[in-house]
Amino acid sequence: MRHAWMILPLALSLAGCVETEKVPTGAEDFGDFCSACHGLSGKGDGEGAAALARKPADLTQLSAKNGGVFPGTRVMAKIWGYTGVAPGRQDSASPMPEFGPLLQGELVPYDGGDGIPTPTPLRLVQIADYLKTLQE
Ligand code: HEC
Repeated sequence: MRHAWMILPLALSLAGCVETEKVPTGAEDFGDFCSACHGLSGKGDGEGAAALARKPADLTQLSAKNGGVFPGTRVMAKIWGYTGVAPGRQDSASPMPEFGPLLQGELVPYDGGDGIPTPTPLRLVQIADYLKTLQE
């Protein structure tokens, strides 16, 4: 029995850790996974951009270039299950990496604008929502 009492506080403190572990915000994940190429502003001027054969997209103009509507479904297709080949441009490999850690965790419904909510990893949804706030 003595042992059980020693283990209990440990178990409680471990449970506490799991509970307080925070999911990074969309802005934080953008800073960690995207800004090296796209820049913190999203304009495509990250420090890694110069070394790339293909210029990173200006992520502040996504809506402007789409008739004023944020192209949520296209953005999600780009960052989720990313294969390195842009849709419709099978010949052109993109340097964009896959974003493994962002795919873990909770799934939430995401409607990118086509009226069809799709269960989508929370952190990707947060990044898409953050990108929406960057639109000029
Ligand atoms: C290694 C550099 C690099 C990183 C890191 C990167 N990107 Fe990109 N991204 C690019 C390049 C280059 C393009 C343009 C070529 C293409 O479309 O694939 C691009 C294109 C895009 C597009 C397409 C824009 C359009 O007009 O459809 C989106 C959306 C995008 N990136 C979002 C992101 C997000 C969100 C992240 C972080 C989770 C990210 N990227 C991380 C290099 C990068």
